[in-house]
Amino acid sequence: MDISVIIPTFNEGNNVRIIAKRIEEALQPTGKSFEILFVDDSTDNTPELLEQLSNKDPFVDYLHRTNRRGLATAVTDGLKCALGDNLVVMDADLQHPPELIPAMIDKLSEGFQMVVPSRFVPGGSDGGLNFYRKFVSWTARTIARLALKRLRKITDPTSGFFAVKRSAIQGNVYHPIGWKIMIELIVRAHITSIAEIPYQFHARDLGSSKMSGSEQLRYLIHLARLVMISEEDRKFFSFCAIGLSGVIVNLAIYKVMLLLRSPVVLAFMLSSIISMASNYVLNSTLTWKSRSVRQANRQMIQFLRYAAVAAGGLCISSGFLSFLYYMIHFRPMFSGLLGIVTGVIWNYVMNDRWTFSP
Ligand code: GDD
Ligand code: MN
Repeated sequence: MDISVIIPTFNEGNNVRIIAKRIEEALQPTGKSFEILFVDDSTDNTPELLEQLSNKDPFVDYLHRTNRRGLATAVTDGLKCALGDNLVVMDADLQHPPELIPAMIDKLSEGFQMVVPSRFVPGGSDGGLNFYRKFVSWTARTIARLALKRLRKITDPTSGFFAVKRSAIQGNVYHPIGWKIMIELIVRAHITSIAEIPYQFHARDLGSSKMSGSEQLRYLIHLARLVMISEEDRKFFSFCAIGLSGVIVNLAIYKVMLLLRSPVVLAFMLSSIISMASNYVLNSTLTWKSRSVRQANRQMIQFLRYAAVAAGGLCISSGFLSFLYYMIHFRPMFSGLLGIVTGVIWNYVMNDRWTFSP
């Protein structure tokens, strides 16, 4: 079998017949063998309609699951049953044009592991979503691309429309929660070669969207889980968390020394040095674990570099703060906040590239 088209459905009775017909019209002229597999969790009469359709139409098959377990697992169940060498996933509601499938398959034949039609490359459009949906969608995409490095090379990572070679995703276990199966596949199967082609997202004609607030929360949990499984993506979050722990260590030691009647400046300097050392130890054993060194002299060099970076960070963040406060006349707290952000970014990048360079 050349192609399996997997379509998750939840109460899409009005759409199943139309989408099957449009897929057939698009794929029959290519001469390739294909199947259309609906994975259904519906609570209305969609299963009966799918039963009728699959009896009449040799290309159509369906799987009905009795307790709704979410869109992404519907797709993984579909992927397991699919017979095709090339797997296409799309929504049932005709927002994803079936006419694009032959071009997607051509890209896979050129050697790409995955093809993601995008609304956000020249020639694409989001079909005039309302302002609220546009904003939510932009936020979701931006968070994904910030959190997971692998997604930065595609412009439409939250799409529910893509094609992938079966060989690229075989042999891994997937645990998606919520909706975004494509992100799960890209991260867990380490997919690197992805082609994008423009497409026009179509406004929904029939039925209604099943996207909800709790789905958006599940999305964030899903991203966090994916961040945790790769050191590459985890590093920045780990660095920030350790930085926060350093603030606590710093303040605690400062307080204790003041209670012991130490002079204020001495207490501050000593507590700063100790918290920097504890940050260094934690970062070298957690954040940059795979690049840690064992010999004492190399550890010493690393620590000195770490301290130099921190000193540089202090200069840069106070310089930036002064610029914002004295030249642009930002409020002091806001200038301070932006100064801290600059310092954190400087420290992270320098430690990643220099202190703990591989
Ligand atoms: N089996 C199953 N189970 N299918 C579901 C479920 C479920 O729990 N929930 C939704 N679906 C099906 C719908 O029937 C539809 O075919 C598809 O999944 C997408 O649902 P919509 O309700 O149409 O979602 P949307 O239009 O708001 O969002 C879609 O497009 C976005 C932009 O590409 C989704 O694909 C999003 O993931 C995507 O970001
Ligand atoms: Mn839709």
